[in-house]
Amino acid sequence: MLGSPILHLLLLHIALLATDLGVSTATTNKEPFVIRISCGARENVRTQPTNALWYRDFGYTGGRLANATSLLSIVPPLTTLRYFPLSDGPENCYNINRIPRGHYAVRFFFALVKDPNLESEPLFDISVDGTQIYSLRSGWSKKDDQSFVEALVFVPDTSVSACLHSTGHGDPSILSIEIIQVDDRAYYFGPLWGKDTVLRTAKRLTCGSGKPAFDEDYNGNHWGGDRFWLGTSTFAAGSDKSISTEDKIAQASISPNFYPEKIYQSAIVSTDRQPDLSFQMEVDPNKNYSIWLHFAEIDSRIKNTGERVFDVLVNGDVAFENIDIIRMTGEPYTALVLNRTVAVNGRTLTLSLRPINGSHAIINAIEVFEIIAAEHKTAAQEVRALQNLKSSLGLPLRFGWNGDPCVPQQHPWSGVDCQFDSKTGQWVIDGLGLDNQGLKGFLPNDIAKLQYLQSINLSDNSIRGGIPSSLGTITGLEVLDLSYNQLNGSIPESLGQLTSLRILNLNGNFLSGRVPADLGGRPLHRASFNFTGNAGLCGIPGLPTCGPHMSVAAKVGIAFGALVAFLVLLVCLACWWKRRQNILRAQKIAAAREAPYAKARTHFTRDVQMAKHQRVHDQSRNHPESGPHLLS
Ligand SMILES: *[C@@H]1O[C@H](CO)[C@@H](O)[C@H](O)[C@H]1NC(C)=O
Ligand SMILES: *[C@@H]1O[C@H](CO)[C@@H](O)[C@H](O)[C@H]1NC(C)=O
Ligand SMILES: *[C@@H]1O[C@H](CO)[C@@H](O)[C@H](O)[C@H]1NC(C)=O
Ligand SMILES: *[C@@H]1O[C@H](CO)[C@@H](O)[C@H](O)[C@H]1NC(C)=O
Ligand SMILES: *[C@@H]1O[C@H](CO)[C@@H](O)[C@H](O)[C@H]1NC(C)=O
Ligand SMILES: *[C@@H]1O[C@H](CO)[C@@H](O)[C@H](O)[C@H]1NC(C)=O
Ligand SMILES: *[C@@H]1O[C@H](CO)[C@@H](O)[C@H](O)[C@H]1NC(C)=O
Repeated sequence: MLGSPILHLLLLHIALLATDLGVSTATTNKEPFVIRISCGARENVRTQPTNALWYRDFGYTGGRLANATSLLSIVPPLTTLRYFPLSDGPENCYNINRIPRGHYAVRFFFALVKDPNLESEPLFDISVDGTQIYSLRSGWSKKDDQSFVEALVFVPDTSVSACLHSTGHGDPSILSIEIIQVDDRAYYFGPLWGKDTVLRTAKRLTCGSGKPAFDEDYNGNHWGGDRFWLGTSTFAAGSDKSISTEDKIAQASISPNFYPEKIYQSAIVSTDRQPDLSFQMEVDPNKNYSIWLHFAEIDSRIKNTGERVFDVLVNGDVAFENIDIIRMTGEPYTALVLNRTVAVNGRTLTLSLRPINGSHAIINAIEVFEIIAAEHKTAAQEVRALQNLKSSLGLPLRFGWNGDPCVPQQHPWSGVDCQFDSKTGQWVIDGLGLDNQGLKGFLPNDIAKLQYLQSINLSDNSIRGGIPSSLGTITGLEVLDLSYNQLNGSIPESLGQLTSLRILNLNGNFLSGRVPADLGGRPLHRASFNFTGNAGLCGIPGLPTCGPHMSVAAKVGIAFGALVAFLVLLVCLACWWKRRQNILRAQKIAAAREAPYAKARTHFTRDVQMAKHQRVHDQSRNHPESGPHLLS
């Protein structure tokens, strides 16, 4: 039904190849790398007004497709979405590969399932490459700038993993994914900026124009990331006013942020009634925010330095002092961008522009980013081992186990305990708790690649097969509970090497053979080992004594010896029987033909011998086989 994901990737590959070629032939005007996905779509789609290409759905880990509905005009006009019922697991991701390393704006739009029964607004969390960037707030489906989430991330390794995490409020759903390359230095704000930092767009506002718009609508440079600008014409109705111009603005679309000229062609200015301009927004508390303010003097009456001077305060503290746009840009109709990072403790961020010397304040646009420290990831070999375990144990779909096992820290994989290894700067797995989950698979040998495990509880499932001897190499293992499964075979000798083991529950399985001496003989104070309920185990107090000890090789040897002896006996019997039959037959013939002349027989034989010597010549030429005939 969905078509082959491999085919999708192939098509994508071809598309990427094509863009690569495009880039190399137009090096002077290199276009940014862009991927757009229309979630749930079975065919590629193009949307107006920019004729943007949206690839059909690929790279997802599960979920279902549905028709989409949105009341908001800024949401791309796509008709399908993908949603993830809880039965598909709490974590679901899109894994997009073949992304050139670089700096990207990633954006996800959300919409509602077009089904009267499902049309409620789900609330869930979103992460990019293991870093949680946002939690949807109730009401998002009715507010332009909450119907999507956007973040600036660095892609160091050619892949982007975007995950939706269920919070138990409805089925997460997603309409579209955009991964748009931006300048490597875009939104540089100082030393804290970089690969370990994600900037989530908290607000992007163009002032003085009531209309929301994308960079694209503004004929913006493609390196701008196709930003969405929410429009506002007033901060406080009646006490400020908006102005605009058609004149050209200098210094607008320049590196690294390539702002569209349009955002500088309108502004909000204060009036005599209320000289201060004040803008307020809700934020998540106890975070750092990077604030970017845009100015251009577009009031034709203001031409000289000193005619408009103001301070900017953030939550009451002066962030920028004595802003005099004309002094700072040298000219009117010229863009000025200022940025500052502030820590916010409360739930509101208030920007105040306070004029000096009786002038008025002006502002053209505002951007606010939440600064998020990028999470460290889980060690790659641990992730591989867990994925292998997932398939060996036949983990049900409801577990999910998509994305990174340990991060975002708010949403680790269920049944997995993590620990941060500060030596390697990566997360590792120190506990597995998959008890009582109806698992029917087997334990893979490479479970031991999870070298940091301290506790394993797989009790009360239907796990079959043997206990991997590799478990003996997980030196830190303290708790191993495999009780109440269907494990068979013997207990590997290697478990005796686990000197930290405090709890070993193997009771209630089909294990057989001798309990390794190292386990049986271990002083049991402060350790609890349970081997009961395995009909075939023997060798320690409380269990039956074992029969004579015999190694596997010895058993094989003995079995082989017995087989050889049996075969030899069989061959001997056959020979004896055949010989006996021959003798009997010969005797019968002799009895029938020669019995009356028994005495003459020896003579006859002697005569034949003599005749043979005389006829050697004739035999070699004419009757080569006559000799033996005569003899028999
Ligand atoms: C989506 O809507 C179309 C009609 O517009 C319908 O044919 C199709 O079955 C719907 N798909 C789903 C998954 O509901
Ligand atoms: C942002 O401000 C910092 C100083 O606070 C400055 O170093 C940096 O260049 C500014 N970034 C841009 C893109 O203007
Ligand atoms: C905010 O930035 C400062 C450094 O400027 C850092 O010490 C602090 O931990 C940051 N706060 C948060 C919540 O990230
Ligand atoms: C404000 O005006 C006073 C005199 O009116 C002047 O001395 C001062 O320099 C002005 N301040 C600014 C920042 O322009
Ligand atoms: C393992 O899980 C079971 C519940 O399924 C629990 O009864 C048992 O105590 C756990 N084992 C250990 C060692 O904690
Ligand atoms: C253990 O059980 C599996 C089937 O579940 C069987 O294939 C295997 O031969 C058994 N091993 C031993 C040692 O009995
Ligand atoms: C060992 O397991 C059996 C059930 O299989 C239980 O009855 C017994 O109490 C356990 N022994 C210890 C020491 O926990």
